[in-house]
Amino acid sequence: MLIDNYPKIELVGAPTPIEYLPRLSDYAERDIYIKRDDLTPLGLGGNKLRKLEFLAAQALQEGADVLLTAGAIQSNHVRQTAAVAAKLGLKCMAILENPLEGATDSYQHNGNRLLLDLLGVNVLPAQVGPSLAEQLITQAELLQAQGFRPYVVPVGGSNTLGSLGYVGCAQEIMHQVADIPDLAAVVVASGSGGTHAGLSVGLEHYLPQVALVGVTVSRSSVQQQPIVEALRQSLAETLKVNVKQPLELWDDFYAPGYGYTNDSGNDALNLVAQLEGIFLDPVYTAKAMAGMLSGINSQRFTSTGPLLFIHTGGAPALFAYS
Ligand SMILES: Cc1ncc(COP(=O)(O)O)c(C=O)c1O
Repeated sequence: MLIDNYPKIELVGAPTPIEYLPRLSDYAERDIYIKRDDLTPLGLGGNKLRKLEFLAAQALQEGADVLLTAGAIQSNHVRQTAAVAAKLGLKCMAILENPLEGATDSYQHNGNRLLLDLLGVNVLPAQVGPSLAEQLITQAELLQAQGFRPYVVPVGGSNTLGSLGYVGCAQEIMHQVADIPDLAAVVVASGSGGTHAGLSVGLEHYLPQVALVGVTVSRSSVQQQPIVEALRQSLAETLKVNVKQPLELWDDFYAPGYGYTNDSGNDALNLVAQLEGIFLDPVYTAKAMAGMLSGINSQRFTSTGPLLFIHTGGAPALFAYS
């Protein structure tokens, strides 16, 4: 696939490690590996840096002087975008919305939100009514009128260009799992959808025998499916490849909604910390891990081989969920 043709700035560098989790594997009676995309090097890491390698390259090409983006108050995406802006000497402006009823003081000020202040982000509260995507367009026009050259990084970095980052990750995984026989499935959190879509195109191409399961963190499978499907079709068209495998989405683990914790997610978070010394995050990876562990228990995976969990980051949000 021709992803090397797309301009990219180096933010991730070396492949992120894939590690075997012996104690979690003993517990689950299944071989479990983890890909440490939480350890990408900039701004406390996470999955968005892979998308930003492509998005920020386009911003520089267009001569932008501001990265403008949006997300929840505890958005990991906004934190990583701000870190990239700092590294590249660009300003960063972020529109932040509060997804939680009765959000605690910690949620509003600690964790990722605190880091945005350290990164010097110009934060605007989201308006009630228009979508974040609409507010980004309006704000970009305002900035232009003031003489700035804003580059809009979409919510979650999830457009076709950003999602290329996870096609690249699939290629990386192909090389890394060459010595793991019979890998059955890769499991990932499915939020704004770019990570899932990129992996789906990449894995179907590089490792077609390996299943991909997206565990939803914001919405039902019925609502999530068209979002991921549209992104992956657009990626496939851009890269001139075919995608035929149906998307697999599990939605039993996101309730009561985006940004809210639940018991199965909290249990998974504690389990992985206590068995492996690895911190998941409460909003995305804890719920995805809960899905994977439940899928093992209920024999929901179609083959019995080892599983690979993608750790997409987010641990800085733990400090907002005390
Ligand atoms: C830690 C973490 N995991 C997973 C995701 C989901 O990735 P995507 O939005 O590409 O679906 C996000 C998105 O913000 C995230 O911050």
